[in-house]
Amino acid sequence: MYCKTWGGNRHSMQIDRRKVIAALGGTLAVQSMDAEARAEALEGYLSDELDMSVFSKLGAPSKSMTVAELDGQIDRRPLRRGIGTLFSSGGTNPFGNRLPGEPANVPRLAPMPATPTLLDFFKLRFAPATHVLQSADKALTAGLPEDIVLACLLHDVAQTLMKADHGWWAAQLFEPYVSKKVTFAIRYHQALRFYPDPSVGYEYPQLYNLIFGTDYTPPPYIEAAHKYCRDHKWYMAARQITINDLYSFDPNHVVDPAKFTDIIGRHFRQPKEGLGFDNSPTAHMWRTIANPDAPL
Ligand SMILES: [Fe+2]
Ligand SMILES: [Fe+2]
Repeated sequence: MYCKTWGGNRHSMQIDRRKVIAALGGTLAVQSMDAEARAEALEGYLSDELDMSVFSKLGAPSKSMTVAELDGQIDRRPLRRGIGTLFSSGGTNPFGNRLPGEPANVPRLAPMPATPTLLDFFKLRFAPATHVLQSADKALTAGLPEDIVLACLLHDVAQTLMKADHGWWAAQLFEPYVSKKVTFAIRYHQALRFYPDPSVGYEYPQLYNLIFGTDYTPPPYIEAAHKYCRDHKWYMAARQITINDLYSFDPNHVVDPAKFTDIIGRHFRQPKEGLGFDNSPTAHMWRTIANPDAPL
């Protein structure tokens, strides 16, 4: 058996030649490929395997399940999968599985300043926020407009409050503070992520087979939201979130939220009273994130 470690120190991965050949369609299929096709197929295989190893560290099940199998686990879980990540220790990853070594109890949260800003929430409540920071960084590197970078930065942070329907929750949370285009993009990324768009190279994420089930079909309201968004003048704003969404999370790529200070300053209306205390229609949502320990 030929084994090789791939990916350097950050992600060591053992690969088995026989498994690779089988995954590429068998010996005959591999022999019929030219060198370039073979290299491409191998790269695809390795990238899938690398994703799987990262996903399993994040709590993914070892094999994909059907929708019915995942539903069958509902009353065998201590937590509902849609719970906001601030409200429990462990099991708040998209798979709803507790990781070995996750503490039994929730951590004590650092107090918030009297007039909290968006960056305070990033540092004290959304942290580590690795996924959105990496997404926004990717959008920035791609040279996208600042409002789209901001949309990427904000698109998933409402998952601290609620993971179920997080696109709608997030859009509502940010509505008083950002442009309509940014909230549109955030709201509709939730539906668009299920629908490939080959014209921009967006494919259905492999990760979703693990999260939603291998035979998952989005419900009618998601299908309707996708259709509505498709024909909208801001379709590409929402699509850009899905393009810059990172489905393989690299824990070693650290991005400081302060990097986005200027963009936030130009595109986020920070209330002088502080988020939660400005009597906006969503101030209560900010207070709940600031103090999820409030008993009632
Ligand atoms: Fe999302
Ligand atoms: Fe995301």
